[in-house]
Amino acid sequence: MNTNIETVIARRIWDSRGRPTVEVDVTLAGGASGRGIAPAGASRGSREAVDLRDGGARLGGFDVQHALANVNGAIAQRIRGMDAMNQEAVDEALIALDGTPTKSKLGGNATIATSLAVLHAAAAAAGQPLWKYLAQGKPVRLPLPQIQIFGGGAHAGRRVDVQDFLVMPIGAATFDEAMVMTAEVYRAAGDLMERMGRRAGVADEGGWWPDFKSNEEAIETLVRAIDAAGYRHDQVAIALDIAASEFGSQGRYTLGLDARSYDTGEWVDVLKGWVARYPIVSVEDPVAEDDAEGMRLFTAAVGERIQVIGDDFLVTNAKLVQDAIAAKQCNAVLLKPNQAGTITETQAALAAGKAANFGTIVSARSGETEDVTIVHLAVGWDAGQMKVGSFSRSERMAKWNECLRIEEMLGADAVFAGGDALGYSRK
Ligand code: PGA
Ligand code: ZN
Repeated sequence: MNTNIETVIARRIWDSRGRPTVEVDVTLAGGASGRGIAPAGASRGSREAVDLRDGGARLGGFDVQHALANVNGAIAQRIRGMDAMNQEAVDEALIALDGTPTKSKLGGNATIATSLAVLHAAAAAAGQPLWKYLAQGKPVRLPLPQIQIFGGGAHAGRRVDVQDFLVMPIGAATFDEAMVMTAEVYRAAGDLMERMGRRAGVADEGGWWPDFKSNEEAIETLVRAIDAAGYRHDQVAIALDIAASEFGSQGRYTLGLDARSYDTGEWVDVLKGWVARYPIVSVEDPVAEDDAEGMRLFTAAVGERIQVIGDDFLVTNAKLVQDAIAAKQCNAVLLKPNQAGTITETQAALAAGKAANFGTIVSARSGETEDVTIVHLAVGWDAGQMKVGSFSRSERMAKWNECLRIEEMLGADAVFAGGDALGYSRK
């Protein structure tokens, strides 16, 4: 079959926030086709690939006409005729055509949607589900999920400072069981909020709205929800995404809920206290992206016992992952394809993490769609972990449900990564 790229077509579709985003369809000469969709972040790292947005007053400035024009024009012209089976060559062409460190010329939304569309077309040409095409015969596992129970930070009007209060069903035997455990905890948390008279809808990623007096009260309520659902803390544990760049920089952390601000050392001590008091197994972006010393301090203190993830700190960049490994600044890397802007760069960041036994977590963004590609990346690359927001709203549930289908497809060969996938336990 001829796998050369024949057509590249971009269109505007709408994401989970009702904002415009970029969808790209790629067709190969032999007839196979693939579709890619760009997600969008709200708490973005300053070094990640940037979305090209039109600005101005219309649609809040979020329209993507320039990004669409870049795909339909320069990008299509450049990659037509290239072999879709050679993802690296296509992505290198995109990187060269853009020529900026943050894909600001073409738009990271234009490049990632194109890159993913080419990948899907290649898998379709190979006649395989994407996860299988990526695995190339190597063993795979269903990922251990991180599921948000309470939203916060930039995803909940900064009602609390911490961005994600999540659970990890580390004691589940299968992905299917992990979902059952999650469903019970999510429901128990909603019931608790109801009884406290504080059930006020959901935040940006579908977690319960965080109507709490303090960050600690949110964690304590999460512990109570796990208990109420009947699980031990070695079955369902807690993960936090602090997303500290949202309230800290230059070694200063100013919490909206506390009457004071902290320097790096004091803030790290606060977090160490939480890790000591609560059943926390994973903490993401504990300090701000400009606080490499804070990352090192926190990892030195708790990195043997829990997972420390770099998200805004590493922005899915292989070079930054390698630097963090050398400087012992974390033990896990979050992988968001649109932070990198191409699938090849995302895979390079994953490979850099894996080479050092880092935990590797494939992640969605807060602005999502029905697209389930990241599930196939998590399984096909055997990342071991996945994070896609909460346990409500279909742009989230679509991902969990796709995982269940893959687990069923694998049948007796299905292996659930479980707690062994955490960054610290693999050392
Ligand atoms: P986002 O953040 O809003 O930028 O997608 C999600 C996260 O911090 O993990
Ligand atoms: Zn994060």
